[in-house]
Amino acid sequence: MSRLFLLFMGLLGCLCVEGLGVNWGTMATHKLPPKIVVQMLKDNGIQKVKLFDADQYTMSALAGSGIEVMVAIPNDQLAVMTNYGRAKEWVRRNVTRYNFNGGVNIKYVAVGNEPFLKSYNNSFLNVTFPALQNIQNALNEAGVGDSIKTTVPLNADVYNSPENNPVPSAGRFRSDISGLMTQIVQFLNQNKAPFTVNIYPFLSLYGNDNFPLDYAFFDGVSNPIVDNGIQYTNVFDANFDTLVSALRAAGFGDMTILVGEVGWPTEGDKNANTNYAYRFYNGLLPRLAANKGTPLRPGYIEIYLFGLIDEDAKSIAPGNFERHWGIFRYDGQPKYPIDFSGQGQNKYLVPAQNVQYLPTKWCMFNPNAKDLSKLADNINYACTFADCTALGYGSSCNSLDANGNASYAFNMYFQVQNQDDLSCNFQGLAVVTTQNISQGNCNFSIQIASSSSSTSLAPSLLALAFFTVLRFLLL
Ligand SMILES: *[C@@H]1O[C@H](CO)[C@@H](O)[C@H](O)[C@H]1NC(C)=O
Ligand SMILES: *[C@@H]1O[C@H](CO)[C@@H](O)[C@H](O)[C@H]1NC(C)=O
Ligand SMILES: *[C@@H]1O[C@H](CO)[C@@H](O)[C@H](O)[C@H]1NC(C)=O
Ligand SMILES: *[C@@H]1O[C@H](CO)[C@@H](O)[C@H](O)[C@H]1NC(C)=O
Ligand SMILES: *[C@@H]1O[C@H](CO)[C@@H](O)[C@H](O)[C@H]1NC(C)=O
Ligand SMILES: *[C@@H]1O[C@H](CO)[C@@H](O)[C@H](O)[C@H]1NC(C)=O
Repeated sequence: MSRLFLLFMGLLGCLCVEGLGVNWGTMATHKLPPKIVVQMLKDNGIQKVKLFDADQYTMSALAGSGIEVMVAIPNDQLAVMTNYGRAKEWVRRNVTRYNFNGGVNIKYVAVGNEPFLKSYNNSFLNVTFPALQNIQNALNEAGVGDSIKTTVPLNADVYNSPENNPVPSAGRFRSDISGLMTQIVQFLNQNKAPFTVNIYPFLSLYGNDNFPLDYAFFDGVSNPIVDNGIQYTNVFDANFDTLVSALRAAGFGDMTILVGEVGWPTEGDKNANTNYAYRFYNGLLPRLAANKGTPLRPGYIEIYLFGLIDEDAKSIAPGNFERHWGIFRYDGQPKYPIDFSGQGQNKYLVPAQNVQYLPTKWCMFNPNAKDLSKLADNINYACTFADCTALGYGSSCNSLDANGNASYAFNMYFQVQNQDDLSCNFQGLAVVTTQNISQGNCNFSIQIASSSSSTSLAPSLLALAFFTVLRFLLL
């Protein structure tokens, strides 16, 4: 009886889908303190994180937590890592340094982030593989290579199916890099390291107005894609199996595949909203919990959701949605109900605790302003240095009137500037108010008080190139 009870309690102890991780990006003007974020991960039963660097404050906060960590080498450091001495130094300072009882449970080192994106113009083509070899060899030489593996998180545009046979089974590595991809896969295989791919059904939809909406989710479609008798009802499976086929064709059909990023944004596009994000995770997580896998790879998939928290300093080159991928808002408040255990018991996650906000005041358009000739210039200025993406088409603040637009922009700038009085002037066009000027669904936010407001260097620039492969699958 008591053993059964203990077993039962043991099962309750793991409240999340086995293998479920989250991406913790930090491209924000005001970052939540790492200790608060780590507590939030624990409170929600999240046991794996993927980082975009190896920042020491983040690493210190993770120390002793037992949480499994993927650290990363940003793309702009790949060239340096082609020097073996520098690679060894990186491993010493960012990996083995934390390898002690009570240290950080590092499992993977990500070498670059989507380095072969077409939009990068081949900038990292020559350096990624040498950097990968050097880092794994340095891990091996340091004696940790059995438990810590390298991998290269790749965008799904490294493989595709031919236009005249747009099915998953015809998947191959992109022709311009297929030799390189084969070398990389061979090396990963020799070292028992995984292949990592980022898969974004949202981007399939965003990139293509003819893309059937239902195919981006997991609740069935009227016209499945049929491939050798297999019915594909969602683009995630079709994309994943296109990769499985590409790996098979290269001779490595059994290679472990991690999904490095998958998720749904909530602002910045007509399809980016909390209802769709809810629908996406409500389909994805139960399939993961049931170890359903895909038609060509049934079973367990290790997966990292993108992302943990909104990042207001990311580049919006890929689109306005880019700053809104978080399951949590910038201040660690959950956006929608979700169930990490994949049992469909969706509820709001535990928010970040003890978050300190700036004082309760906002900056607004001055209704007594006389000269409006400089208004547009001032709004532009504010929006260059603060995040105004919520004003765009399909976003929560898109229906504000002209004065509302101005107030929104001025407030975002004022908050980014830590409510400095001088930052709410705009040539006499703005004034500070203590009244909450939020309107409807459009939230005029107050920033968090963060000790450091600098942004860290250059991690995840998302796909500019949208999945040609998936468009082919639908033609
Ligand atoms: C990680 O390695 C890089 C060198 O590539 C270095 O700049 C950085 O400071 C290291 N981090 C720590 C915490 O030492
Ligand atoms: C790639 O090339 C295009 C066109 O030449 C250019 O506009 C873009 O800035 C380049 N991107 C990068 C990352 O170098
Ligand atoms: C990569 O190396 C090849 C062959 O050495 C060279 O032709 C090419 O210009 C290099 N590409 C870049 C982006 O450095
Ligand atoms: C408010 O700003 C948005 C985004 O810049 C724009 O689309 C909209 O037309 C503006 N509304 C008014 C009334 O100026
Ligand atoms: C301001 O009002 C909005 C909507 O009524 C609300 O969601 C938000 O929490 C309020 N902000 C503050 C700081 O009280
Ligand atoms: C609105 O902003 C406040 C902070 O100013 C935040 O606490 C609250 O969670 C936000 N609410 C929504 C619905 O975004």
